[in-house]
Parts: sequence; C-alpha cells; structure tokens
Amino acid sequence: MEEMDGLCVRDCTRCPELVESRSRIVNGTGPDDAELVFLGEAPGANEDSEGEPFVGRSGSVLDSALRDVGLARADVRITNCVRCRPPENRDPKKDELANCRGYLETELRRVDPSLVVSLGKVPSQHLLGRSVAVTKEAGTVEDVRIGEESIRALVCLHPAATLYDRSQKETFEEVIARAADVAGVGEGDGGQSSLGDF
Ligand code: URA
Repeated sequence: MEEMDGLCVRDCTRCPELVESRSRIVNGTGPDDAELVFLGEAPGANEDSEGEPFVGRSGSVLDSALRDVGLARADVRITNCVRCRPPENRDPKKDELANCRGYLETELRRVDPSLVVSLGKVPSQHLLGRSVAVTKEAGTVEDVRIGEESIRALVCLHPAATLYDRSQKETFEEVIARAADVAGVGEGDGGQSSLGDF
C-alpha cells in the first residue's frame, strides 16, 4: 500500500479500471480531528471533477440535513470507501474496496471520531463487515473493529435515496439528528428549544 500523506492518498494505481475512469483521487475533506465522519461509497462525476466528496445533489441533501441540526459541512469530515470514480458510476468491486480499505482505516484511526455514519448500503456493509438492510437498520449504532481499535458506527440511508423516495427524507433527517446527538455535536435536541426561542 502506497504511503498516505497525512489523511490523503497522493498517488495510487492499485485498481486499473478506476485509474482509467478517474480524473483524480478524491480524498476525504473536513477537520482532521472531526467528531463526526460521514462515509460514502465512491466519488461520482461531480466529485471527480471537483476533487471533493459529496458535492453533487447528494451533497446538497447532506448539507441541508446538517444545517437542520446546527452543523456546517466544515464541522464534519466526509470521505468515501473508494477514492476514485468507478466507470459509469457502477458500484465499487470487492477488490477495489479491499484495495482502498487501508487508506480508510488509516484515515479513521488518525481522525479518531466519536462516530462514523455510513451513508447507504455499500459503505454500511463495508464498515460493519456484514450484510445490512439499510432502510430497516437506519439509525442503529454498533461498535466495529478497525484494526486494534473499536469505533462507533451508525447506519444511515444514502442521501440520494431521499431524491428518489420522498418518504425517506424524514428518516434521513432523523438519522442525521441522531448522529449529531450520539457524537455530541451540533444542537443535539436543540431543534425544539430553538423553536421555543422564536
Ligand atoms: N455518493 C457517494 O457515495 N459519495 C460521494 O462522494 C458522492 C456521492
């Protein structure tokens, strides 16, 4: 595995198809000591062109849910299971997930967050190391082992799920509120008290 430069991978050619389809490596963004880390699947077209995770429509959904609980994007860290855009936005393959795993583990170990929120099926299964029914399990917390350490993980829907199915929007927002609460950041249950302020 190529060395990481802090939390960033500068050069990697382990996945031939991804080297072909990417225009750059998309590293995680946000504070290097964030309490809350969001984990997506892989960069899409927007992320590949801008070099930052979740900057397309899914990113707007995430940003807006964060705002609702008093958090800005800059308050959290956002990263992906795989750092290079798969061709035609297909799911990352098993070996590609495995090739990028060490980078993710290093990033999580170095950031040492209170909570990692997995956004969707692929990242939830990758993080938890088991099959996950995301809709059913959304909002559940469990501890997972990353090498020698244990890290707290929370299953969440992928933000894009709210774009195709409006009924998922509420669930998504509830899970983000729970994430802020578990990580001890944002307004916690401040939604109610801030209503009372007006
Ligand atoms: N979806 C993801 O899973 N990751 C991104 O970075 C953007 C969209």
